[in-house]
Amino acid sequence: MSKVLITSALPYINGIPHLGHMVGCLLPSDVYARYMRMQGQNVLYIVGTDEHGTTSEVGALKAGMDVETYCDMNHARHLKTYQDFLLSFDYFGRTSSEQNKEMTYHIFKKLDENGYIEERTVKQIYSLDDQMFLADRYITGTCPHCGYDKARGDQCENCTKVLEPTELLNARSTISGSQNLEVRETKHLFLNLPKVEPKLREWLKSKEPFWPEVAYSIAQKWLKEGLQPRCITRDLKWGFPVPKAGFENKVFYVWFDAPIGYIGITKQWADEDPENRDWKDWWMGVSDVRHVEFMGKDNVPYHSITFPATLLGTGEPWTQVDYLKGCSYLTYEGGKFSKSENRGIFAEDAVKEFPADYWRYWLMSNIPEASDSSFTFDLFAAVVNKDLNGVLGNFVSRVLKMTASKIGTFVPARGADTPLETTLKQNLKARVAAYFKYMDAMEFRKALNELRAIWVEGNNYISDAEPWTVIKEDAARAGAILNVCINLIRLFAVLSAPVMPQTVEAMLNRLGLKLSDMPSLKDFDVEKELSVLKEGAPFEVGEPLFERITPERLEELKQKYGGEKHGA
Ligand code: MF3
Ligand code: ZN
Repeated sequence: MSKVLITSALPYINGIPHLGHMVGCLLPSDVYARYMRMQGQNVLYIVGTDEHGTTSEVGALKAGMDVETYCDMNHARHLKTYQDFLLSFDYFGRTSSEQNKEMTYHIFKKLDENGYIEERTVKQIYSLDDQMFLADRYITGTCPHCGYDKARGDQCENCTKVLEPTELLNARSTISGSQNLEVRETKHLFLNLPKVEPKLREWLKSKEPFWPEVAYSIAQKWLKEGLQPRCITRDLKWGFPVPKAGFENKVFYVWFDAPIGYIGITKQWADEDPENRDWKDWWMGVSDVRHVEFMGKDNVPYHSITFPATLLGTGEPWTQVDYLKGCSYLTYEGGKFSKSENRGIFAEDAVKEFPADYWRYWLMSNIPEASDSSFTFDLFAAVVNKDLNGVLGNFVSRVLKMTASKIGTFVPARGADTPLETTLKQNLKARVAAYFKYMDAMEFRKALNELRAIWVEGNNYISDAEPWTVIKEDAARAGAILNVCINLIRLFAVLSAPVMPQTVEAMLNRLGLKLSDMPSLKDFDVEKELSVLKEGAPFEVGEPLFERITPERLEELKQKYGGEKHGA
C-alpha cells in the first residue's frame, strides 16, 4: 500500500459553488479518492475553504457582518453543500485556522532566513473615506481607451485592455463610491522568484515525463516569459498579520497562505487524533507519498510555479505536487453561471432537485478536460433518461422483477457457460481493463464512457439470451441467465461506486450486501466477480433506481434557473 495525498483547490469562501466549481476540482478529486481507496491505497483527501483577502472583507461588509462571523457562516454553508454532494474528504478545514497560521509563519521565516524575501516600496491608491488601500479591482472609473464608465482598476471589461488603476478617469472606490482617493507610497514584502528560479527549473525538469501536457506547458510559458518578484503582503485587516518589524499593519496576500492551507488543514486533521496522526507523515521528508492536485486551469500557475517555489525556497524537504490535474470551464446554457443574474444552477440547489448521483454522473461524463464543456438542462435530462434510467436502472429492475415473478426472490442456480457468457466475459474483461486504465490516468470522460459501455454489456447480454423466451422451454437455462444478470448488477455496483456511491448502496442493499462488502479493485477479476452471488441468496426488487425527467419537468427547470443565452 502506498500513500496518496489528494487535494482539491480550496474554494473561495465568499463564492457560492456552482456546477462549474464542482466539476472543475471538487468532484473529480472525490471520484479519484474513492477509486484509490478501492484500489487499496492509503488515501488522505484534504479540502477546505480559502478565506482571506479583500473579497471576504467586502462580502462581509455587504452582508453587514464582521468578517469572522461571515466566514464561519459561509464555511458551514460550503461544508453542507459538499457533504450533500457526497464528497468523501478526510478533513474539510479552513485557511484561517491557527494551524495554517503556524505553517504560514514557519514557511515565511525560512524564506526570510534564506534570503528570498525582499522589501519594496510601491505606489497604491488609498481611500480616505474607506480608510484603506484599495485592491486594483476595487477601483471603478472611466476607461481611458473606450470611455466605458464602469471599468475596473485592473482591466476594462468592455474593451478588455489591461489597466493601471491610476489611468482611470473619475476614479472612485467600488466599496463606498467615494472619489476621495490619493496615491500613497507603501512598503511591501516580495518573494524573490528569480532567485528561486534555478531550483524551480531543476525541480520542474524532474516532473516532465509525469506531468499532464496542459500543466507542464503553462509552467514552461511562465518560465519563458521570465519570473518576476511577487508581492506577498497586503494592506488589509483580514489575513495573517505579517510577523516582521515595520509591517505590523499588513497581512499576507491570500495567494501566499491559501496553498499552504493544504498543509495547515492536514495539521487540523492530525490535531484531532494526535496519537495516530502526524501531518509530517504526509508533508515533510517522506518519499512514500504521491501528491495529486485537482484544480481549474486558472489555478495552474500558482500550483506549478509560485507554490512549489515557495516550498523550494525554504530549503526543507516538503512534499511537492506529483501530478496536477487541471480542468477547463463548464458553461451554463452557453454563457456564464451568475448568482447575481440568477443564471445557472448552483450546487446547493442542484441537490434539492435531484439526488447527488445524477449530478455526479452527468458532470463526470461531461467533465471539461481537453476543452470547455457546456451544461444544458436538455443534455442533463437526456443523460438521466438514457444512461441512468434506460441503461442502468432498466437493467436492474428488469432482471430483479423477472426473476421474482418467474422464479422467486432468490438467486437461481448457475449453469455451464454457453458462447453467450464467454462473449460477455471477454467484452467485460476488455472494458474493465480500459476503465481502470483511464481512472488511473484521471481521464475521466473516457473512464465514464467505459463505465457506461460496461452497463450496456448487461443489456446486450439479456437481449441476446432472452430469458423470457427461454423460460417457456428450459427453466434451468433461464435461471442460469438470470443468475449471471444478478451477478452483473453487483459487478456494475462495484465499478460504479467511485462515481455514484448512493445509487450503488441502493443496488447492493437489494442484493443483501453493504458498501463495506465491496472487493478491492486491485485484484478485480471478472470471472470471479460474476460468481459471487450463489444460488439461493435472497434479493429484493425495490423501487426504480432513478426518476425520469419528463418534458414538463424539463421546462420547469429551464424557467426556474434561467435558460436564455446572454452570451458569455
Ligand atoms: N480559492 C482559489 C480559487 O477558487 C483556489 C485556491 S487553491 C489554494 O480559485 F490552494 F491556493 F488554496
Ligand atoms: Zn475600455
